[in-house]
Amino acid sequence: MYQLKSVTQKYERRRQTVTALDDCCLEIPDNDFIAIVGPSGSGKTTLLSVLGGMLAPSSGEVLLDGESLYDLSVEERTTLRGEKIGFVFQSFNLISWMTACENVQVPLMLCGQSVDQQRARALELLDRVGLSDRTDHRPAELSQGQQQRVALARTLANDPRIILADEPTGNLDSETRQLVMKYLTEFHDDGRTIVMVTHDHETAAFAKRTIRLVAGVTEQISVADAA
Ligand SMILES: Nc1ncnc2c1ncn2[C@@H]1O[C@H](COP(=O)(O)OP(=O)(O)OP(=O)(O)O)[C@@H](O)[C@H]1O
Ligand SMILES: [Mg+2]
Repeated sequence: MYQLKSVTQKYERRRQTVTALDDCCLEIPDNDFIAIVGPSGSGKTTLLSVLGGMLAPSSGEVLLDGESLYDLSVEERTTLRGEKIGFVFQSFNLISWMTACENVQVPLMLCGQSVDQQRARALELLDRVGLSDRTDHRPAELSQGQQQRVALARTLANDPRIILADEPTGNLDSETRQLVMKYLTEFHDDGRTIVMVTHDHETAAFAKRTIRLVAGVTEQISVADAA
């Protein structure tokens, strides 16, 4: 469970201050599925970065399972991120010279698994996202939707409890968008937590609730029927 207490993030650039998050208070219980919507520049990516342990806010507190994220050392925070949190980005951030399988192996390698274990797990995940016939392709040899599915398999590799997704369907056609949302929904049905930024109403409709950010201020706009 996440608790954000009066989180403010100000960026200082060329003597100009931008308040990207303005005194945000938010609770995200386990197994929540939140869509974050709002205009460009309203602070959505900043909020995900703060939740992901990648950006210490200017003030306020971020608790993950009761532990203050930014009171941990950098090493402790990196370990916790590796264990608990998976990221999905609009630009898939795959490593261009590695095959699909090797890309999925990266987080497993970083947590010290043997090459055989890494490969077996990566193949299982690629199969799960329907890419068992593309495991030796490099990103440039895959379609956008296939690249996003490789990225999703990589995100799932460490079995994270939380997924933070920034426009996960932004670059995809409607068929692949449905597929990616199906995987995220399965992940949520497994008891995990998803925080997803999106511009797309259809994508937001998959979430349990929607929060709108306007100029760095959060407001809850809907709680979908849990059924
Ligand atoms: N590193 C930075 N330095 C200075 N200002 C920044 C930085 N990152 C973001 N900002 C500013 O903070 C505000 C919020 O940015 P953020 O990226 O969180 O918006 P967003 O809601 O994700 O927008 P979009 O929908 O366009 O992705 C913007 O006004 C932006 O210009
Ligand atoms: Mg953004």
